[in-house]
Amino acid sequence: PSETGRVLSIQSHTVQGYVGNKSAVFPLQLLGYDVDPINSVQFSNHTGYPTFKGQVLNGDQLWDLIEGLGANNLLYYTHLLTGYIGSVSFLNTVLGVVNKLRSVNPGLTYVCDPVLGDEGKLYVAEELVSVYREKVVPVASMLTPNQFEAELLTKSRIVSEQDGREACNIIHATGPSKVVITSINLDGKLLLIGSHQKKKGQPPEQFRIPIPKIPAYFTGTGDLMTALLLGWSNKYPDNLGKAAELSVSSVQALLVRTVEDYTRAGHDCQSSSLEIRLIQSQDDIRNPEIKYRAEMY
Ligand code: ATP
Ligand code: PLP
Ligand code: MG
Ligand code: NA
Ligand code: MG
Repeated sequence: PSETGRVLSIQSHTVQGYVGNKSAVFPLQLLGYDVDPINSVQFSNHTGYPTFKGQVLNGDQLWDLIEGLGANNLLYYTHLLTGYIGSVSFLNTVLGVVNKLRSVNPGLTYVCDPVLGDEGKLYVAEELVSVYREKVVPVASMLTPNQFEAELLTKSRIVSEQDGREACNIIHATGPSKVVITSINLDGKLLLIGSHQKKKGQPPEQFRIPIPKIPAYFTGTGDLMTALLLGWSNKYPDNLGKAAELSVSSVQALLVRTVEDYTRAGHDCQSSSLEIRLIQSQDDIRNPEIKYRAEMY
């Protein structure tokens, strides 16, 4: 399908390597989207390295850019995409951006990756959690938390598939019609759980995609995953399972290539976080071979 759109993507920029906008913009462009990136930070490299340097955009500076676009009637977007956000003031300005973009295009789809932490550890200030829960989630169209983020946003524990599905139900009740818990770790196995509530108040259509766990740690994959889910779910608006199959298949092909490249270069893939081979995987992004299937519940 050829459906595309205009995406405003507010995420991190790193000079070297692929996280945030660096891992989201190129794949969306490959899928045919016009993407306008706003860099919420500009860092030398991602924060998993021993050190990093750079600048952080504040809420007023973000709003300046929006005003500049507005003054030229350039605020028509089909999609807003946000990822890691470092402060409450920036997050509140993002809420202002959602309102502004919706006033220009009431049909705006807001895809929110509520980046809070992973594997039981917060990597943002604790005060962001309630702002996401109370103000951001309610205005999002699609939400892509991981297991820990879904727990924080629903104030529930997820220790089973059923818990994951319940968490999706709780999230639907507060706003988003599409929810993808991008990874749940259940006794050493990875599972993606997707949920699409096609009509308010109706039970959602839910599915699972089991994902084989690769014994390595990657950065930028969450940001890539959310970008692909945006791209494909807009092309298959009534088939979130298909969108997730395509997205997972692209990411897995890229991860396998990444591990192969590092291994060939004599690297121990378990010793440090790996930079994803994004550019080298462009065929897998444009034209993924579906190897991972959505199983409807
Ligand atoms: P967020 O960015 O919101 O924190 P997340 O924690 O799910 O989300 P990642 O852990 O990077 O982000 O996972 C994103 C996707 O990348 C997963 O859905 C999975 O498909 C893939 N992935 C990441 N790491 C691995 C791995 N070690 N083995 C297999 N797949 C992986
Ligand atoms: N943004 C920045 C600036 C980062 O340093 C990192 C990881 O270190 C990320 C985003 C994380 O990306 P992901 O959750 O996709 O691995
Ligand atoms: Mg994770
Ligand atoms: Na996620
Ligand atoms: Mg992430």
